[in-house]
Amino acid sequence: MLALSERVSHLAVSATLAVKRKADELRSQGVDLVDFGIGEPDFHTPEHIKQAAYRAIKENFTKYTDAGGTRELRQAVAEKYQRDYGASFDPQCEIMITCGAKQALYNAALALFEPGDEVIVPTPYWVSYPEQIKLAGATVVYLDTREDSEFSLTTKEVERALTPRTKALILNFPNNPSGATLVPGELKRMVELARARHFYVIYDECYEQFIYDGSPLSAASFGKENVILAGSCSKTYAMTGWRIGWAVGPAQILHAMEKIQSQCTSNPTSIAQRAALEALTADQGCVSEMIAEYRHRRDVMVEGLNEISGIRCKLPKGSFFAFPNVAGLFEGPIQNSTDLARHLLEKAGVVTISGVEFGRDGFLRISYATSMDRIEEGLRRLKRLFG
Ligand SMILES: Cc1ncc(COP(=O)(O)O)c(C=O)c1O
Repeated sequence: MLALSERVSHLAVSATLAVKRKADELRSQGVDLVDFGIGEPDFHTPEHIKQAAYRAIKENFTKYTDAGGTRELRQAVAEKYQRDYGASFDPQCEIMITCGAKQALYNAALALFEPGDEVIVPTPYWVSYPEQIKLAGATVVYLDTREDSEFSLTTKEVERALTPRTKALILNFPNNPSGATLVPGELKRMVELARARHFYVIYDECYEQFIYDGSPLSAASFGKENVILAGSCSKTYAMTGWRIGWAVGPAQILHAMEKIQSQCTSNPTSIAQRAALEALTADQGCVSEMIAEYRHRRDVMVEGLNEISGIRCKLPKGSFFAFPNVAGLFEGPIQNSTDLARHLLEKAGVVTISGVEFGRDGFLRISYATSMDRIEEGLRRLKRLFG
C-alpha cells in the first residue's frame, strides 16, 4: 500500500470513542456497565422538534440548501443572539449553519491557521482542538488552568502565553471536561486583549445553556471584530445525532469558512435544519426542564464522589461533567488516570475517561448525563471498590 499522508499519521483517534468501543465490547459480553463516560445528553430530542422534521420530509424539504444553511435558520440564530445577548449579526454574511459545532470549529481552523501560527488551548481541553489545529498545520500552545481556580482562566494567564505568533485562543466555557465557567469580566478583558494584540478568540459555546449558578455567557456580548463563536443544538436540545451547529463571526472569515464547507460537505441536512429551526424558535421550556434535572444530578454525583477517600471534587458550575482529582487513588499498579479508568471499568464496571485524554493526568472525567438510578448505582460501586 502507498503511504498515508503525513497529516493523518499524527492524528489521534478520538479518545472518547476508543473508550466507547471498549465499553461496547464488554456490554456485548453481557457485562452490566454504569456509563459515566458519555458525552451526550441521555434525554430524547423533544417531541415538537421531531415533529418539525417529520413535517419537513412530508413537505419534501429534502434537497440541497445553501451551503451555509437556510435563510430561516440563519435568521433564527441571529434572533437568538439578539434576544439573549443584545448582539446584532447579519444572518446572511456573519452567520453560517454547520454540521455541529465541530464543523464550525474545523472550518475556522482551516480558514485561519497555517504553519508557523500558534494557537492557545487551555487545559483541560476538549479532545478535538489539538487535532484540528494540527490538521491545519499550526502549533498548539497548552495553557494549564488551575484546580484551585476551579479550572477557570484569567486574562493575565492568557497574556503570559502570548507570543508574536499567537493567531488564536480557543475558549470553551462551560467546559468539557472540567465544568468550569468564566467570570464575565475576564471574558470581556480577553476579547479586548485579542483586539489589542491582534489574535482571534474562538469561543466554543456548546454548553452555553448548561449553567447552574449565574446566567449563560457568550463572547457575543463583547464585540465581534476578533471573535468567532461556535454554537450547537447538540447538547441544549438533546440533538447530537442531528448534526446542527453554527458559526458566527466577521463576514470575511465567515465567507472563507463557507467556501471550505461548500467544497467539503455542502449544507447540513435540510431536514435537520428544519428541526433546529423549531428548536431555536419554539418555547424554551424543555431546555430549563433538562437543566434543572442536570443540576440535581450534579449535586448528587459530586457529593457522592467527595465521600470516597482519595477523590477530591470541586462543584462544577456548568456543562454535565465532574472532573475530580483522583491522584489520591494512585498506588501499586495504578500510577495514572488511564490505569485508574481501566481499573474502574474492569473491577467495578464503571466507565470514566482518563484526564490524560484532556491533557491533565491526575483527574477523571465523569459525566452525569445519565439517570439518577445509574448515578446512584455507579457511586455505590465506586464506594464498594475503595471502601
Ligand atoms: C466542547 C465541545 N465542543 C464541541 C463539541 C461538538 O459538538 P457538535 O455535536 O455540535 O459537533 C462537543 C461535543 O462533545 C464538545 O464537548
